[in-house]
Amino acid sequence: MNEKNPLRIGLIGFGCVGQGFYDIVQRQPELNLAVTRIAVKTPDKPRPLPAHHFTYHADELLADPAVDVLVEVIDDAAEAFRLVSTALRQSRRVATANKAMLARHLPELVQLQAEFGGTLLYEAAVCGSIPVVRTLDQYFSHEPLHALSGIFNGSSNYVLTRMSEDGSDYAAALAEAQLQGFAETDPALDMGAFDPRSKAVLLAAHAYGVFLESDAVLNLGIEGISAADIAYAASQGQKIKVVASLSRLPSGHLTALVTPQLVGPESPLYGVEREFNAVVLDAEFAGTQFLQGRGAGGHPTGSAVLADVLGLRRGLRYQYAKQAAAPAVQLTHGLELDAYVSHPDAGVLREVLTWLELPTEALASTEAGGAYATGPVAVQQLWAWRRELRANGVFVARVGEARVTALVTEKAATGWA
Ligand SMILES: NC(=O)c1ccc[n+]([C@@H]2O[C@H](COP(=O)([O-])OP(=O)(O)OC[C@H]3O[C@@H](n4cnc5c(N)ncnc54)[C@H](OP(=O)(O)O)[C@@H]3O)[C@@H](O)[C@H]2O)c1
Repeated sequence: MNEKNPLRIGLIGFGCVGQGFYDIVQRQPELNLAVTRIAVKTPDKPRPLPAHHFTYHADELLADPAVDVLVEVIDDAAEAFRLVSTALRQSRRVATANKAMLARHLPELVQLQAEFGGTLLYEAAVCGSIPVVRTLDQYFSHEPLHALSGIFNGSSNYVLTRMSEDGSDYAAALAEAQLQGFAETDPALDMGAFDPRSKAVLLAAHAYGVFLESDAVLNLGIEGISAADIAYAASQGQKIKVVASLSRLPSGHLTALVTPQLVGPESPLYGVEREFNAVVLDAEFAGTQFLQGRGAGGHPTGSAVLADVLGLRRGLRYQYAKQAAAPAVQLTHGLELDAYVSHPDAGVLREVLTWLELPTEALASTEAGGAYATGPVAVQQLWAWRRELRANGVFVARVGEARVTALVTEKAATGWA
């Protein structure tokens, strides 16, 4: 199965993912892989390996012709883009886990591969260990997908799980998630649903052949959630999950939303707890499929990097087949959804209802003294007020599925050439 000479890997980044990947490679010598060079950033940091294993200049790995494959797993998106794009200009084979970098630069990176003949794989960037990018790109390359939804962020899912298990408030659940290593010190990207939005953008390229701009996709987070919101969902027999949803309308338009959602036991997402991620695919001929697995962590994410490295060795490239078949898919915000909106201060919520064009009669009080309302809201309104909703700590969740209204075609989704 293996070539005679080991595949020589240049590893850029030796943190959670880099060390997880390194350990997996060390444990499986039969794979005939060799991490021959490792680049990190900080010279005087304690490491689990002797200092001679490391360089502090990642460019040395790019310049080294004795490196066959580069693995980029650093925590700096701008530097990651510089390194990965430089490597692709050198026609190199690269695996990366950096979803923020990819979501920002994917069309350019795909173009560089076409121009210079290099290859970029990024399974680890979406849902950690779940092989969803390859499933969409290879297996469902020619099957229309009605919808794709999922829980793409383990940190926020962990917080939501702990809140519903304990009735604890958001701050306590977040502090615990940070202590357990399931949430970053700066939780804004995860809790604000920016991280799962990046992943939704990447999956849209493979599921629907469209390169979305992240900012064009509505994302609402859980920073404003309270124990009363969890209790409300429970009173309806439901749980709150941050759900990313992509769907193709009969008109050919694409919808994309990443928001909290009330989810009932009939949904496969209902039982996805703690740091786990999941993806539900609704394919035209295959029907519904459900993938669940660990969305983060050294070994789960390192496992996805390993799969990419082995793929690179045997010449795997993403096809982006749906882009070639349907270059004109465009994003629409022409949707309406039943929303649950809450805030600890009824006065603030009263004003929010006017933003969202919900009747103030819809306002109700929670036992804890806060206020909530439910009713139909246009996605366009949520989009228009998204920054104010976030800045004022308003919690908004979808209740059920979005409905199509007028089809407003947005320019933000670009057909890529
Ligand atoms: N953690 C996860 O579970 C997970 C899951 C999926 C995807 N990802 C993605 O994987 C990437 C890495 O995440 P992580 O959690 O492993 O990060 P991390 O634990 O913070 O480690 C980052 C590593 O990158 C190194 N680094 C930073 N800038 C560098 C530079 N300019 N040149 C060379 N090395 C540099 C750091 O060096 P020092 O050691 O010297 O500080 C460190 O070793 C990120 O893009 C993240 O979004 C992570």
